[in-house]
Amino acid sequence: MPLVTTKEMFKKAYEGGYAIGAFNINNLEILQGVVKGAKAKNSPVILQCSTGALKYAGPKYLRAMVEAAAEETGIDIALHLDHGPDLDAVKLAIASGFTSVMFDGSHYDFEENIGKTKEVVEYAHAHGVVVEAELGVLAGVEDDVVAAEHVYTDPDQAVEFVERTGCDSLAIAIGTSHGAFKFPPDYEPQLRFDILEEIQRKLPNFPIVLHGASAVDPETVEMCNKFGGNIANAKGIPVEMLRKAASMAVCKINMDTDLRLAMTAAIRKVFAENPAEFDPRKYLGAGRDAIQKVVEYKIENVLGSANRL
Ligand code: G3H
Ligand code: 13P
Ligand code: ZN
Repeated sequence: MPLVTTKEMFKKAYEGGYAIGAFNINNLEILQGVVKGAKAKNSPVILQCSTGALKYAGPKYLRAMVEAAAEETGIDIALHLDHGPDLDAVKLAIASGFTSVMFDGSHYDFEENIGKTKEVVEYAHAHGVVVEAELGVLAGVEDDVVAAEHVYTDPDQAVEFVERTGCDSLAIAIGTSHGAFKFPPDYEPQLRFDILEEIQRKLPNFPIVLHGASAVDPETVEMCNKFGGNIANAKGIPVEMLRKAASMAVCKINMDTDLRLAMTAAIRKVFAENPAEFDPRKYLGAGRDAIQKVVEYKIENVLGSANRL
C-alpha cells in the first residue's frame, strides 16, 4: 500500500463531517502505537514529523518505518512534514518521500507569509506533494499572558491567502495552543467557532487544520505525577469542542502532547511498579499500548474517522 497524499482524505472528511488525526511520530513505538490504533478503528491517519523528529530519528528511518506500517496495515497513511520552517526543510522532506508538507510562515507578516508559502507550493506541487500553510498565531500562554484576539485568523485574509498561494489546506488560529500548558488553571478554554464558521462560508469545501489540539487528560497527568512525575497546571482543549470543529470545515486535527503524556505515564508506571525492570521492550511496549488506546479514543470521540477507509 503506497503512502497517499491528504487530498482524497480531506475531500471525504469534509463531505462526511469528520476529521483525520495527525499524530506526531519520533520513533518506532510511537509510530506503531498510532497505526495500530488507526488499524483497529479502520481509520485513515496522518503521520507527521517535525524537524526535531527528522533530526532525532533521521528521515530515511522514518520514511522506511512508515512505509512498512502502510504495507503491514493496508490503511491509508499520509506522511507529513509538521511546521516546516523553510523551503530547504520542505525539499528535504519531499526528497525523503513525504507526501504532504507544512510550511509554517505564521510568524512572518502577511505579504511575506504569502510570498514564501507560494514558493513552497510551486515546488511541492511540481513534485506531486500537497501543502498545508498557516495564517494567524496560535493563542497560548507566553509569559503568563493569554494571546489576545488579534492573533486569531482573519477570515478575509484567509480567503486572500488561499487564493494567492494556492495552498491545499490552511491551519488557523481560533483558540487552540501547542503543548501541555495551553491555558492558566482558572481560564476556561474557548474556541472561536464564529471565526471558523465565517472561514467555512467564505472558503467552501476548503480543508482547515487545527494545531495544538491535545485535550490533556487530567487522569493521565495525574498518573504521570503519581509515578514520580512533576507536571503542574497542565490544561488542554475540551473533547466536545474538538468534535464540533471536526464536524465543520476542520479536516485535520494535530495531536502530539496527548501521546507524549500517555507514553510517559505508562513507562513511569512500569518503572515505579518494577524497579528491577530493564528490558526496553517491557517499558516501551507499555508506552506503545498506551498510545494505541489514546489514538482509538481520539478516532471515536474527537475525529469521527472510524470505518472511513
Ligand atoms: O507542534 C509541534 C509538535 O508537537 C512537534 O514538537 O518540535 O518537539 O517535535 P517537536
Ligand atoms: P499538541 O502538542 O498541543 O497536541 O499540538 C500538536 C501539534 O500541533 C503538532 O503540530
Ligand atoms: Zn502544530
